[in-house]
Amino acid sequence: MWPFNTSCDSTARFDGKTVIITGANSGIGKETARDLYRRGARVILACRNMERANAAVDDIKRNPFLKADKQEDNTGDLAIYQLDLTSFASVKECAKNLLAKEPVIHILINNAGIAMFPFEKTVNGNEMHLQTNHLGHFLLTLLLLPRLQLSGFGCRIINVSSCTHWFGNINFDDINLEKSYGPWKAYTQSKLANILFTKELARQLAKAKITGINVYALHPGLIPTEIARHSGNTFFYGADKCWTFWTWLLFKNVVQGAQTTIYCAIDEKAGEETGLYYSDCSPAMTSSRAMNADYSKKLWDISCRLLHLEPEENFVTLLNTISRQIAD
Ligand SMILES: NC(=O)c1ccc[n+]([C@@H]2O[C@H](COP(=O)([O-])OP(=O)(O)OC[C@H]3O[C@@H](n4cnc5c(N)ncnc54)[C@H](OP(=O)(O)O)[C@@H]3O)[C@@H](O)[C@H]2O)c1
Repeated sequence: MWPFNTSCDSTARFDGKTVIITGANSGIGKETARDLYRRGARVILACRNMERANAAVDDIKRNPFLKADKQEDNTGDLAIYQLDLTSFASVKECAKNLLAKEPVIHILINNAGIAMFPFEKTVNGNEMHLQTNHLGHFLLTLLLLPRLQLSGFGCRIINVSSCTHWFGNINFDDINLEKSYGPWKAYTQSKLANILFTKELARQLAKAKITGINVYALHPGLIPTEIARHSGNTFFYGADKCWTFWTWLLFKNVVQGAQTTIYCAIDEKAGEETGLYYSDCSPAMTSSRAMNADYSKKLWDISCRLLHLEPEENFVTLLNTISRQIAD
């Protein structure tokens, strides 16, 4: 286990707050859900597999406190919404349901992800990592943003990225990697995209003078979750088990792995910052590509086009256009 772990030491309660976490039925997302539920939040698990989501909810309800010394009985509330990021129709349906049933949304945690997937396209014709890890979250965020805006000051959008972004590049001429696919290349591109999206969204919000919503990207650490589950098929038999063994031996456990996400969601000091990348519960260095403002704008534009939106529109018009797509 990683001996130099930093924990989020905020004792803030989250009563009355609504938090959405994508991919919260396992790994980091599930531990983040458990922590925020314990703090009194209404936690929405946005998941593709209802059976796994129900099992996660049962587990969190049965064991809201992983640490026996922190018992309280004022936990929050848990709900499940169906979301499959590989389908824009599913993302829109999920957003529509959320907007119909949730009067307020304070925190959106874009956590779901896949890694080391063999080359495959989604129903929308995009490379699997690009859509699951970046484009689906890009769309969900823009659809939910007006509700965050109406939910009061102190709202946050958190994008779970990775230190592997240091190895990533955005292949603007071949964004779906049709000419030169590699699972590592696809994963690192999508994780770099998470940071570029964070920075550009912070800029767009500032330019549109929309206040009260901060945006964060983060590296959670290396953690033995199910993230490498596809590597056995992509690389060699047992690659997933090797990953789990080495991360278990040398790196963070899943509770430690959720700390930076929790920090970005609740910490008071982080509440004064936006557009930054965090690791071990503090702002951290990114690759030079992740800091390149031309890159983030170019990725923003290309993401809009892949969603059949006009990137040239000003941000507020863009939000109105996209909202109309799910209006009856
Ligand atoms: N573990 C690490 O060492 C590590 C390091 C750096 C960054 N990260 C990042 O941390 C995040 C969480 O990963 P994890 O390690 O907790 O892995 P995990 O246990 O595999 O969790 C991933 C979650 O994403 C969900 N998901 C995958 N595809 C989806 C889709 N199409 N629609 C909706 N949900 C989908 C999964 O749902 P199903 O159960 O239905 O598949 C699962 O709930 C990811 O963004 C990952 O890139 C992890």
